[in-house]
Amino acid sequence: MDYERAKIYLEERGQQHLLKYYGELSEEERAQLLKDIENTNFSIIKKLNKTPKKIGKITPVNAVTVQDIKRRRLQFESVGLNMLHEGKVAAVLLAGGQGSRLGYDGPKGTFNIGVTRELSIFELQMNNIFSVVKKTGRYFHLFIMTSVQNNEETVQFFKDRKFFGYPNDLIHFFIQDVAPTCDFDGKIFLDRKNRVSLAPNGNGGWYSSLVNSGLARVMEHENIEWLNVYGVDNVLQKICDPSFIGATVLKQCRCGAKVVSKTCPEEKVGVMCNEDGKPTVLEYFEIPEHLKSKTRKGELVYRFGVTLNYLFNVHDLNLTLSGRLPYHLAEKAIPHMEDGERVVPNQPCGYKLETLIVDMVKFMDSCLAYEVEREKEFAPVKNLSGTDSVDTARELLAKNGITL
Ligand code: UTP
Repeated sequence: MDYERAKIYLEERGQQHLLKYYGELSEEERAQLLKDIENTNFSIIKKLNKTPKKIGKITPVNAVTVQDIKRRRLQFESVGLNMLHEGKVAAVLLAGGQGSRLGYDGPKGTFNIGVTRELSIFELQMNNIFSVVKKTGRYFHLFIMTSVQNNEETVQFFKDRKFFGYPNDLIHFFIQDVAPTCDFDGKIFLDRKNRVSLAPNGNGGWYSSLVNSGLARVMEHENIEWLNVYGVDNVLQKICDPSFIGATVLKQCRCGAKVVSKTCPEEKVGVMCNEDGKPTVLEYFEIPEHLKSKTRKGELVYRFGVTLNYLFNVHDLNLTLSGRLPYHLAEKAIPHMEDGERVVPNQPCGYKLETLIVDMVKFMDSCLAYEVEREKEFAPVKNLSGTDSVDTARELLAKNGITL
């Protein structure tokens, strides 16, 4: 794209300010800017919708509860172990987030949660993986999604630690796709005079990014049928848990979600439920008040909070491709160019555009809510202190016998 074309193209989209500094740029910088403009997906901005979405008829889900699992564990596990042994399941770690709430300068997985020794979040999660490998006697493929910003550091961290002893030909890194950021009026930010401001496109971008990176070939070649997708935050979670896999398959569900019972109606977690008969996850701010606190036999009816640990069927995941996932507006403090200077605000000044993994569940015909004990499997690290923090995670890790 040359300057003249870019000008017309941007004017048609109300984004001509992106060429504001063009006159001040070197030839090389101009080429970079024009390339960024060419690679920017402007249609996402056009479709931005600030009105809250309409919610259909909400009904509760029938989960496999902790008690059910205790009774049927052997049966579930034997099916799951078999599938892992046959190589039909792989794991996908979502590590492309910016972890801004933690306020740590580096990829979140490299954060040292140890007290008397070095113990990174990545290492803890790899240890959890090893405990499954021990049972199945077979390593599984592990896909790790990073971002443009943290990819190099993440890969180097694994290399420096010799992939924690895991076969490195089974670990595949891929970089998450990006989306433009914009101000509250939808004007796309410039990050530098010659760079459009781009940010990771949300955790719902994982499957399309995996496919765009060319790694779908590995899945086809290896006949991988299921993907266990998990976040980097939860340091207690079980990865490729045979019982979870077996339960999802035995219940003939197309997808599974590990859930925990909410501690109170106000807890800020997304809740699994059915919307017009289809599985869905309602964000904590979307659940109507009267449903949020509804109880039956002393228990919350809508109590199953998602933990960002899902099992997806690869075949069905293709339904979520071709731009079908909606973009959400996340208000963030975004560094950008203003009057010739790069400003780094400490208050939200615009939107990051994010697709969400919870929206993928809607495309599945069925989703098994699989309840785990939160004390044993849910220790998210979102903040440095307070709720869902390094402090609470350390406490739970210690309770589970992990030497910190
Ligand atoms: P969060 O929703 O906690 O977002 O991510 P975040 O960006 O990591 O953290 P904050 O909100 O800035 O504090 C939940 C999971 O989704 C991944 C994260 O790495 C984490 O595992 N994620 C999030 C991505 O992989 N890509 C994204 O664009 C966003």
